[in-house]
Amino acid sequence: MSRTGNLQLLKAHSAEEDRAAERPLRFERIDGDEAFLRVAVLDTSCLTDGAIAAMSSSLDEQKKSVAASIRSAPHRGDFIAAHFLLRRVLEDSLGIPRKLWTIDATEMGKPVVASPAAMSKLRISLSHTRGLVAAGVARGYELGVDVERTSTDATRLAISDRFFAPDEACYLRGLDPGAALNEFTALWTLKEAFAKAIGKGFGQPFHSFSFTLSEPPSITFFDPALGDPDVWRFWRAPYGRFHLALAYAPKDMAAPRAPVEVLWWKQS
Ligand SMILES: CC(C)(COP(=O)(O)OP(=O)(O)OC[C@H]1O[C@@H](n2cnc3c(N)ncnc32)[C@H](O)[C@@H]1OP(=O)(O)O)[C@@H](O)C(=O)NCCC(=O)NCCS
Repeated sequence: MSRTGNLQLLKAHSAEEDRAAERPLRFERIDGDEAFLRVAVLDTSCLTDGAIAAMSSSLDEQKKSVAASIRSAPHRGDFIAAHFLLRRVLEDSLGIPRKLWTIDATEMGKPVVASPAAMSKLRISLSHTRGLVAAGVARGYELGVDVERTSTDATRLAISDRFFAPDEACYLRGLDPGAALNEFTALWTLKEAFAKAIGKGFGQPFHSFSFTLSEPPSITFFDPALGDPDVWRFWRAPYGRFHLALAYAPKDMAAPRAPVEVLWWKQS
């Protein structure tokens, strides 16, 4: 068996209930054109060179060439793992072999499915940080995914004074340094997930929207071009030293909601 098939399920989450014990290792195949929203998270801290080489063989030539240009071996491994994971979720969910997917990007960098062309309405999102990667796929939803390692560098808090909304910066200033770094990373992860979901990345100023770290998190817009904040949903979870955040919005508010499925894997 290929080492890339050897993923151990750490935990599973669905928006309604935690059903880790019942979850299969793979995402189940989606029937017809049902709406769905799935995210796979992979702990890359123990990936061997052999596993990374096997994952790399699933990528298209353009992604292999980007990977080859990344000098840092850990960064290169995380890049390959994230793009492999995306193809794995696509193959499991849609039944189309992982090597047959071509992923392109918009002018702003948002990844999109180029082929198979019939799948171009899917929404996909990726994130890689040293030691953890995530890949999301949705139909019927806009979707943004972000993972970050909790910062240990207190000087990063100055970023919130320059780039966050004033209420977020004020909230962080009121915390002791340890808590502030954790909450800073939580806010940053949510902000990146949202910026990816709208396809703008850093092109959307990070002070033009603000998060409250309630459960679930909520958003306020200061830029009218962002539309109606009430259509957006957010989910976040810690994983060891890491934070994961999802931002998603149904394209049809009247349609029945699909469960949010998140699987966490580690190479065994
Ligand atoms: C997306 C972004 C906010 C986060 O990047 P990051 O924290 O460094 O890295 P992450 O690993 O979490 O995310 C990177 C992934 O986000 C995705 N991404 C990049 N730009 C994106 C965008 N505009 N919308 C949605 N997703 C985007 C890509 O899939 C990328 O991974 P890949 O290059 O391997 O395909 C940032 O890289 C960005 O804005 N990039 C766009 C280019 C840019 O700088 N534009 C600014 C114009 S002023």
